[in-house]
Amino acid sequence: MAETDTGSYVMGTTSEESDRLGIQASLYDRHTEYLLRTAGLSEGMHVLDVGCGTGEVSLAAARIVGSRGRVLGVDMDPGVLERARVNAAADSFANVGFVQGVLPDLEVAGSFDALVGRLILIHLDDPVSTVKGLTRFVRRGGVVTFQDFNISRTRAVPAVPLVTETVEWISAALRVGGRDPEMGEQLAEVLRLSGLPDPRVAVAAPAGGPDSAAVTLIAESARSLLPVMERGGIATAREVDIDTLRERMARACEVARATVYVPELVAAWAQVR
Ligand SMILES: C[S@@+](CC[C@H](N)C(=O)[O-])C[C@H]1O[C@@H](n2cnc3c(N)ncnc32)[C@H](O)[C@@H]1O
Repeated sequence: MAETDTGSYVMGTTSEESDRLGIQASLYDRHTEYLLRTAGLSEGMHVLDVGCGTGEVSLAAARIVGSRGRVLGVDMDPGVLERARVNAAADSFANVGFVQGVLPDLEVAGSFDALVGRLILIHLDDPVSTVKGLTRFVRRGGVVTFQDFNISRTRAVPAVPLVTETVEWISAALRVGGRDPEMGEQLAEVLRLSGLPDPRVAVAAPAGGPDSAAVTLIAESARSLLPVMERGGIATAREVDIDTLRERMARACEVARATVYVPELVAAWAQVR
């Protein structure tokens, strides 16, 4: 397999990051499927999922398109693609395939009814030109839809200072890594600038209690971004104390009887004319 430069992916390519993608996917699975259906995915469609990670969005699309449809997931990281194939096999999906590819220079055969991508545009240097280029794979009248987070909407209610501080570290690390933590809010404009008129937008957001996957996701996101935090002078490893962070947040949320809201997932979509 060809060497791939995965160095620009700010979250890293560790096995902990792959685990984090799984936790994130389990929290957002139903929200993603709802947003894909709302954007117009339907039975029988052929779907291209870019930046597919461990494959959960591809599998959500596969549930929608059914056995008459087909889904192709693409990612630059061979490690996550291996997990994606295992996940697809575990769910007995025969109509989902995965291939390695690096955006924006993607080459895939065929024409698709829908182009989808979750939490990928935030990681690209030039989302507009990438989306513009990718629409060539979508037939006229087909759907282009992307989903991304508004990270600053992550919070505990009532507020828990350790959660607030951790979310600030995460946002700052993404900014230092050249990424917009509020990419969700930018999606409609990215589609417009990519030549896709009249984009529509919807939002979905999971939440959980003090000992939930919501707290785990915040802690594990901090883990993946810790090297960037240290390099960027945002927080030291000692301040973050990553191996106890989840436990400390859970305890503080328990004391405050807080509900933890993880980032809003925004979807924007438009039709190719
Ligand atoms: C945050 S993950 C999201 C994965 C998946 N879409 C999901 O929502 O679970 C971003 C994924 O994009 C991939 N990625 C980042 N930059 C990429 C690029 N330039 N080309 C292809 N894949 C890329 C990473 O390897 C990673 O798997």
